[in-house]
Amino acid sequence: MSNQRNAALNDGPVLNNGVQMPWLGLGVFKTREGTEVINAVKNAIDAGYRSIDTAAYYQNETGVGKAIRESGVPREEIFITTKVWNSDQGYHSTLKAFENSRQKLGVEYIDLYLVHWAVPGKYRETWKALIHLYKQGVVRAIGVSNHQITHLKAIIEDSGVIPAVNQVEFHPLLTQQELRQFCQEQGIQMEAWRPLMNGELDDPVLKDLALKYGKTPAQIVLRWDLQKGVITIPKSVRKERIIENSQIFDFQLTDEDMQRIDGLNQDLRLGPDPDRVNF
Ligand SMILES: NC(=O)c1ccc[n+]([C@@H]2O[C@H](COP(=O)([O-])OP(=O)(O)OC[C@H]3O[C@@H](n4cnc5c(N)ncnc54)[C@H](OP(=O)(O)O)[C@@H]3O)[C@@H](O)[C@H]2O)c1
Repeated sequence: MSNQRNAALNDGPVLNNGVQMPWLGLGVFKTREGTEVINAVKNAIDAGYRSIDTAAYYQNETGVGKAIRESGVPREEIFITTKVWNSDQGYHSTLKAFENSRQKLGVEYIDLYLVHWAVPGKYRETWKALIHLYKQGVVRAIGVSNHQITHLKAIIEDSGVIPAVNQVEFHPLLTQQELRQFCQEQGIQMEAWRPLMNGELDDPVLKDLALKYGKTPAQIVLRWDLQKGVITIPKSVRKERIIENSQIFDFQLTDEDMQRIDGLNQDLRLGPDPDRVNF
């Protein structure tokens, strides 16, 4: 029943290596290991989500894996993303970190493995380790997160392998125009983290559009992501919001309304600057 209602939750772009990834996923940053993450993931899968975004850094991979196994939905129907943390970067330590994540998740393969941040002096070797994992067949796609154009150019030049995805901070206050265009030209799929600006959605334009479309400000922003061609992974631990955030496939923003949201851009980061990674 819920699957039929939300059939579009499977839909998504085909990445540059031919693997398809859902437009919408559940983010689980700051979602506690154990009951909290297990419930969030189960509620999401029940609402029709087929993509989960975790990371070694979030310390909840065990719960994510358990929830997926207990959900009753076959493993191969769920798209799992995880990431190598900064302190594990470098060639051999990345291979070890991957094995750790895979064991915690309790899976044979990971759908998308990302370099979490471009750690100076390390990210180029880390990328080579991801290529090795991809060649081994234990990941279906490899990509990066928080990589600026300079970082992308460096790893592409080193390896000749273009990341499938770049997961970056993206929301109405930070529309990443230059980076988005570069990614588009290179065939790198952009993915939005912090899409809901941490839930700070009290904006007159968003509220006005919410009223116009009979949707919530969160749904307006998430729909805007999709129409920008950006994969989105809102986080919530509340069942009603998990459902709300998924109901974005049954309406369309006009070009004019898309531009109104674009106009909110302030190039404002809510998270760390990827050019200053010292953590
Ligand atoms: N690659 C990276 O470096 C990186 C960095 C940050 C995040 N991420 C990924 O991106 C995901 C999303 O980003 P995020 O978690 O930082 O922030 P977010 O999704 O923009 O916002 C999450 C916050 O919004 C609230 N919320 C959720 N749905 C809502 C709704 N419909 N209306 C109002 N408030 C709502 C949540 O509260 P409740 O939970 O109480 O509902 C939570 O406080 C993360 O979970 C993670 O997977 C990646």
